[in-house]
Amino acid sequence: MPKRFFYSCSFLLWVSLAGLFAQNARTSFKPGKLWPDDQGVHINAHGGGMLYYRDTYYWFGEYKSDDSNSALVGVSCYSSTDLYNWKREPIALSVVNDPASDIRRGCIIERPKVVYNKKTGIFVMWFHLELAGRGYDAARVGIAVSDRVTGPYRFIRSYRPNAGRWPDNMPLTERTLAFSSSQEQEWWTPEWMAAVRQGLFVKRDFKDGQMSRDMTIFVDDDGKAYHIFASEENLTLDIAELSDDYQSHTGKYIRVAPAGHNEAPAILKNDSTYFMITSGCTGWEPNAARLFTAKNIWGPWTQLKNPWVGEKAGRSFDTQGTFVFPVAGEKHAFIFMADRWRPEHPSDGRYVWIPIEFKDGVPVLNWKDEWSLDEFDR
Ligand code: DGJ
Repeated sequence: MPKRFFYSCSFLLWVSLAGLFAQNARTSFKPGKLWPDDQGVHINAHGGGMLYYRDTYYWFGEYKSDDSNSALVGVSCYSSTDLYNWKREPIALSVVNDPASDIRRGCIIERPKVVYNKKTGIFVMWFHLELAGRGYDAARVGIAVSDRVTGPYRFIRSYRPNAGRWPDNMPLTERTLAFSSSQEQEWWTPEWMAAVRQGLFVKRDFKDGQMSRDMTIFVDDDGKAYHIFASEENLTLDIAELSDDYQSHTGKYIRVAPAGHNEAPAILKNDSTYFMITSGCTGWEPNAARLFTAKNIWGPWTQLKNPWVGEKAGRSFDTQGTFVFPVAGEKHAFIFMADRWRPEHPSDGRYVWIPIEFKDGVPVLNWKDEWSLDEFDR
């Protein structure tokens, strides 16, 4: 074959492939549908979070396998400049084979969130960690760091936060309260619920640190970061301040909705008002989302009604939230990220992203079969 003919054919092939790819580029979100990455494989980043860094979005999430919820791979990362089309990056945090490691293969890693610390130039990943072979008993938070956004992230430690610290909003009368043994032992009775509200588990876990399961990280306008997590056997949410380098807790924290049974926290700040969307606790089964608001991150937090509207609002349209992020370059434009879990086939779990609408200043989630970022210009 003459060389020139060969080069012309290769060029034509390249042009048509590029054309095909461009044609296939996504221009909308299709909540609940398969969402292929740049290699045509359904995105595997469950319980995810978003980081916007240097004009690019980075989506981090749980890399789930086909038949187990245990972490057999680690935390995945995808990048995008338009939010519709995602390039698969290398695994950001890998589980290891070392049986002595907290993140040994077979542990549970959930809801990873990555933040960038401007002072140190380090990316910090926080996640809910359960030690291998112990179910959901360990209830720890894990931290990993990297000097590159896509990683690889290096695991540094895991622990239960705020050991030896009282929540700022726990009155002295509660700190010194003694519980009766029936209050301590018989779960789910009204007396037990009252004891939980008054800090039964805060006290139980005071010495070794508070339980930490479903979580998010929120970075405020002033650069301060907070770890928000389901604590006290998933009965109470804690909001805890992070150190300036975002790699540890300062020991300052509050309890939100004690005994209110919330998980899956996701926070946004619109102008100067904070909103937190959570779920109830029904395992992988959906339930009605909840909404809280506050003028100050340290509360008081007030509960509003379910942000979802419509027929399936009671099941949050079969989803559970995981994160909220502002759309770069837009005002008052936030995307709520949620998961539609598939516990029988975890990697096939679906993503439901919904634009947040504000009605009388309060977030509302309205189901959409398909939508695009133009939604925010209406
Ligand atoms: C609901 C949580 O939100 C998930 O992250 C996961 O921990 C499941 N419960 C486990 O049942």
